[in-house]
Amino acid sequence: STSPSAGPAAEIGVIGGSGFYSFLDDVEEVRVETPYGPPSDPIAVGELAGRRVAFVPRHGRDHRYPPHKIPYRANLWALRSLGVRQVLAPSAVGSLAPHLGPGTLAVPDQLADRTHGRAQTYYDEGAAVHVSFSDPYCPAGRRTAVGSARTAGWDPVDGGTLVVIEGPRFSTRAESRWFASQGWTLVGMTGHPEAVLARELALCYTPLCLVTDLDAGIEEGEGVTMDEVLRVFGENIGRLRALAADVIATLPAERTCPCPRALDGMEIPLELP
Ligand code: ADE
Repeated sequence: STSPSAGPAAEIGVIGGSGFYSFLDDVEEVRVETPYGPPSDPIAVGELAGRRVAFVPRHGRDHRYPPHKIPYRANLWALRSLGVRQVLAPSAVGSLAPHLGPGTLAVPDQLADRTHGRAQTYYDEGAAVHVSFSDPYCPAGRRTAVGSARTAGWDPVDGGTLVVIEGPRFSTRAESRWFASQGWTLVGMTGHPEAVLARELALCYTPLCLVTDLDAGIEEGEGVTMDEVLRVFGENIGRLRALAADVIATLPAERTCPCPRALDGMEIPLELP
């Protein structure tokens, strides 16, 4: 179903990354169809801290979608169609700075897009829609996430730039050094177009980036491996879940950030769900 009245409504969405395949107990699984095909998996809808929450594993629960094949548009559309207006996006990222070692929790405030060929808009025809993306993330969500991490004693990195590479390969040392020389601090494969699609649907979007490795430019050994990423992610998944849960419990229900107004004054050639 695609209408909130036909399915269980949720207000907060969580898009789990590699190693984050389930989140809520006692869920109702909803198969949502969208104009962009099905999302990565049925959406699990349940309750946490008195809030209605919808969870989708970004790569599918069996990790069948590599970063460049994730149905990003379907995932965000499906969440919105269930009533979601605020999205939390935990993900594994590499570090471009030696002082941000594995186990660091970062809430970046900027994004640099180095992907290519991914569908990154809902507004392909009918009218040109140009959303503002100067500040890609929800300021209220970021504030809440940083506060929750501090409360949990997980000294978070507040800010920084996430560069999103096309993947699925990791970066060369030269690429990695070049990213760092731009002042970028984190590298991942899924933060784009997810964040901009959320903006195009006037959703709040907050990244929760777990550093799993030092990227090739600052790593002195063999470079990054997926084994290392998944191992470090596994070591930190407990506190990442707890963090997401505390953010959900703490997020202001009323949105006073600019995100709900992302489309104000624009002619939107689609009916948003
Ligand atoms: N995800 C986790 N670690 C990464 C890295 N070093 N580069 C890109 N994506 C990543």
